[in-house]
Amino acid sequence: MSEISLAVVAKKHNAETIRRKLASLGILRTSMKVFSDDECVYFPVNRLPNPDELPELRTGDAMIQEAIFNKLTPKPKSLKEAMNSILNEELIKLVPRSFDIIGNVAILELDERLRPFAKDIASALKLIHKHVDTVLLKAGPSIGEYRTRPYEVLAGSGNTLTEHREHGCRYRLDVRKVFFTPRLSGERLRVASQVKPNECVADMFAGVGPFSITIARIQPSCKVYAFEINPMAYKFLEENIKLNKVEGKITAIFGDVRQNYGILEKKADRLIMNLPFSAEKYIDVATKIAKPSGAIVHFYCAAEDRNAVESAKINISSILLSLGYDAKFLWAKELKEVAPRKAVVALDIAISLR
Ligand SMILES: C[S@@+](CC[C@H](N)C(=O)[O-])C[C@H]1O[C@@H](n2cnc3c(N)ncnc32)[C@H](O)[C@@H]1O
Repeated sequence: MSEISLAVVAKKHNAETIRRKLASLGILRTSMKVFSDDECVYFPVNRLPNPDELPELRTGDAMIQEAIFNKLTPKPKSLKEAMNSILNEELIKLVPRSFDIIGNVAILELDERLRPFAKDIASALKLIHKHVDTVLLKAGPSIGEYRTRPYEVLAGSGNTLTEHREHGCRYRLDVRKVFFTPRLSGERLRVASQVKPNECVADMFAGVGPFSITIARIQPSCKVYAFEINPMAYKFLEENIKLNKVEGKITAIFGDVRQNYGILEKKADRLIMNLPFSAEKYIDVATKIAKPSGAIVHFYCAAEDRNAVESAKINISSILLSLGYDAKFLWAKELKEVAPRKAVVALDIAISLR
């Protein structure tokens, strides 16, 4: 769609200065697309500026004329707004308000009733978030030892190798091949902020390294041991350690933490156990890694959503008790609903040998 409008035609060398003046006079028409030819830039305006307002009209660096401009379609602010003209009232309610963006990959989770419109929603998402290349649809839960998830490509190139930025750190990863969630960003900062100088930290299920690297960047005097069993996640972990210039502060260990914890040169002051569906099975390993006189464990577990925090506390303290350890719960929070009637609970636990 195009329209005729009054235009201020600026010589290219002065165009940016003139654009700023027109914008500050409030006469630039933002609903039309500025264009240029070899010598001049054409700005659509809603009234004539006078030469006192725009002295370039006197010097010949700017002229007034009419020109044909392409109209800009306003960018929708949300997926709901973008889909408003396509979906009925009932379906609009189901369009998600939020979704994960990892680097330039966006991940949608859609109600089955929106399935026929999934590609339209993905295109709308790309329109709103111009830096997003690939849009994926969750096609199942995170599964297996590596906690990876099946996805369907809805839009874009389908490339899932990306770089994500968080708290000033950079993470290279392939969304399809490793576990990563931006939803734990707040947790990573919360945990890293508690680490004291010279601590020994064990990140028992490190993934591509977001807890370990945030800690090493915030508290460079500490020593972090990062264990990871997925070869692809381990490869990215090593790469990310270099990318974030924390070599020497983090030792990455490939393989099962149960088989490899003996590598620690001293007992850990702090442990991170971010493996929500099986972390309990590794509490015995944690007690072997932790300083017997006292250590802090940042523990993540899945629990029934009714009284999730309380049931997690009872379960963990009974496991620790059976291993001869006392548990003091310092902090607890239900993070999110992960499956029907399931929630992930985050717990900070002070443990010590009885
Ligand atoms: C839920 S992910 C968390 C990753 C990371 N902490 C994060 O926040 O992105 C758990 C990770 O632990 C790894 N893992 C699972 N079992 C393991 C084991 N026995 N030893 C070491 N790593 C393990 C998985 O491959 C996965 O990358």
